[in-house]
Amino acid sequence: MSLGAPFESAGRPFVLAHRGASAEAPENSARAFSLALAQGADGVELDVMRCGSGEIVVVHDEELSRLAGQPVELRRAPWSVLRGLDVGSWFHPRFSDTRLLLLEEALELLRPPALVNVELKGEGMGDPALPARVSEILSADPAPERFLVSSFNPALLVRFRAAQGRLPHSRRSPRGLLFEAEQSAPLRRASLAPLVGVGSLHPSVDLCRASSIAGWRARGYAVVPWTVDEPAVALALQAAGVAGFITNRPALLREALHGPAQRTTDASPGA
Ligand code: G3P
Ligand code: MG
Repeated sequence: MSLGAPFESAGRPFVLAHRGASAEAPENSARAFSLALAQGADGVELDVMRCGSGEIVVVHDEELSRLAGQPVELRRAPWSVLRGLDVGSWFHPRFSDTRLLLLEEALELLRPPALVNVELKGEGMGDPALPARVSEILSADPAPERFLVSSFNPALLVRFRAAQGRLPHSRRSPRGLLFEAEQSAPLRRASLAPLVGVGSLHPSVDLCRASSIAGWRARGYAVVPWTVDEPAVALALQAAGVAGFITNRPALLREALHGPAQRTTDASPGA
């Protein structure tokens, strides 16, 4: 199984900025996304949930105390309230004008050929309406094959696959299964991957021994570890055959892996 041309055409591992260039700007923000592309990342990873009024919001936390200093429940709050919250001051006072983005707004900044890993957030059975709405938004893009939809939650990925099954192949996006060491054995060994139907496995970096990577690759999966911020670790993982990286430090990783960035695309914000 492969992720498709946009993820493989460079002939080297792709670099996705985790929540944007989140070591240098507020996570999942317009600035973090713009900075990631300016630093030569191939794209970004971002998190999505559906808010109380139904819009798809780019955000990691379900409760916004950390990001906005207020105990707002994202899944209950309407977009009319969420859109006014300051989600940058927690990072640094100079980012006090940072606001949450809708997925559609983020994609306006992340134009083709930028790669975008959309992580569906949700515990248990998750929000059943989230995958279908995300599928609608992504399939309307000029290049839906540049999206990679991932989740820790197999139920959300199955729903996303079902929603995509109603589309022509040219409108579909690949899927990836996230897992980490703290999960139960079936999840952290990716045993459910065949049932979910994914092209890639996204293990936390602490699970990435060379033998594990070889095993996942032998099962036919592209391997996309997170979060890889150390150049030496990235080089070892590259040698082990990973397909791409998710990192908080795209500039550092990009330079360690491929030399200084040389922008040859028109993916910069506003282009
Ligand atoms: O997609 C990789 C990573 O984002 C998963 O964990 O909690 O940062 O969304 P988290
Ligand atoms: Mg994420």
